Amino acid sequence: MSPSFIVIEGLEGAGKSSAISQLTSFIANKGHDVICTREPGGTPMSEAIRECVKHDWNERVTEETELLLMYAARSQLVENVIKPALESGTWVIGDRHDWSTIAYQGGGRGIQLEKLGALRSMTLGNFTPDLSIYLDVEPSIGLQRARGRGELDRIELAGLGFFERARTSYKELVATHSNAIEINAMQTMDKVQSDLIEKLNEWYARTQADIKVGMG
Ligand code: TMP
Repeated sequence: MSPSFIVIEGLEGAGKSSAISQLTSFIANKGHDVICTREPGGTPMSEAIRECVKHDWNERVTEETELLLMYAARSQLVENVIKPALESGTWVIGDRHDWSTIAYQGGGRGIQLEKLGALRSMTLGNFTPDLSIYLDVEPSIGLQRARGRGELDRIELAGLGFFERARTSYKELVATHSNAIEINAMQTMDKVQSDLIEKLNEWYARTQADIKVGMG
């Protein structure tokens, strides 16, 4: 089975970290080599961009600056880490990817999707995840969880309306992509975990069946 690039998406406090560790074990238990990456971040330069993006600057950060930094970090990560890993047979789990930009900079900040599309095709071409897993949480619940973890960063301070719009964008993305899974992340942790495993098993079996049909 050729390696897949699987991405976990969701608002702050959706429970991405637990889902990522569960997903990593799932893939490793199937006998695959797997690495995890995060966005923005995942290379020395992209981690520096992450610090820059999260920092609370004493000046207005324009929507365009934020957008360009996200794609700069993504380009470094995709070219230097994700593609080489996939080419060497290693599966890749991404803590956020392009949907975060569509949700946060597109939905949240209101940047037109045409502008995002132009940047995406410039930096990513037709490179897309094999599976996107969206953890759905109401912003008020997610932000409360994030606040419980400590101080909020510059983006997390954007306000409830911003996150409501980002959530709407995420839901539209899930509805328009067949290689996407939505999990209700407002349930108990046990139920979130069992839903995730159930849907992963379905996806894995389907992917393998598709490969067999392709070979037959
Ligand atoms: P997190 O991954 O620890 O949640 O932090 C990343 C922050 O950056 C989070 O607030 C979401 C935000 N972000 C964007 O606004 N656009 C993007 O494209 C990405 C990858 C992240």
